[in-house]
Amino acid sequence: MQAVNQPLASYVDQILITQGQIHERVAELGTEIESRHEGGDLTLLVILHGSILFAADLMRAMSVPVYLESFRVASYHGGTASSGTVSMEQAETLRHLKGQNVLLVDDILDSGRTLHAVKRLLEEEIEAATVRSCVLLDKKVTRSMDAAADFTGFEIEDAFVIGYGLDYQGKFRNLPFIGTLKPECIES
Ligand code: IMP
Ligand code: MG
Repeated sequence: MQAVNQPLASYVDQILITQGQIHERVAELGTEIESRHEGGDLTLLVILHGSILFAADLMRAMSVPVYLESFRVASYHGGTASSGTVSMEQAETLRHLKGQNVLLVDDILDSGRTLHAVKRLLEEEIEAATVRSCVLLDKKVTRSMDAAADFTGFEIEDAFVIGYGLDYQGKFRNLPFIGTLKPECIES
């Protein structure tokens, strides 16, 4: 890893999705979600930390009142590939979503384990009325489980990406675009 005081952009290999493209697509997503919402209260459940920037922009692209909730889920644990285990330590904090319409907001759909696990929790344990999901990015990978999102921003190739909330070892979330990390910055 290069010294930490290098400008953020110097760690980026390729810009895949620009700030302008994100802005435009998030506005469209807000409209799509609203047009499919059948009325009643809607709670955006933001999967921390990766979805913070996306959710902040998405909720401002919607004109109906929404509630905001967040939930910490981790599946990468510092590497560039999913660890295979999804940890959810605060399931109890979501009990009040029983009978509510919930929109899960996640940054990226990779193996699908995160979305699958949170969706199952809300549907089967919390007993939310409806559970839909919105992801900014959908990686073209073969998934063993059914984890399709109801709303998707962009489909991307199977590469490790950073920026606009997405991190590598906790860093690079504040890049305003989505890009790939220079290979020499990835610890082997
Ligand atoms: P999944 O459970 O394998 O679908 O992984 C979803 C989570 O892994 C996302 O919410 C991200 O936090 C993280 N993740 C997956 N792919 C990437 C990536 O390319 N860059 C950064 N984080 C990623
Ligand atoms: Mg995440």
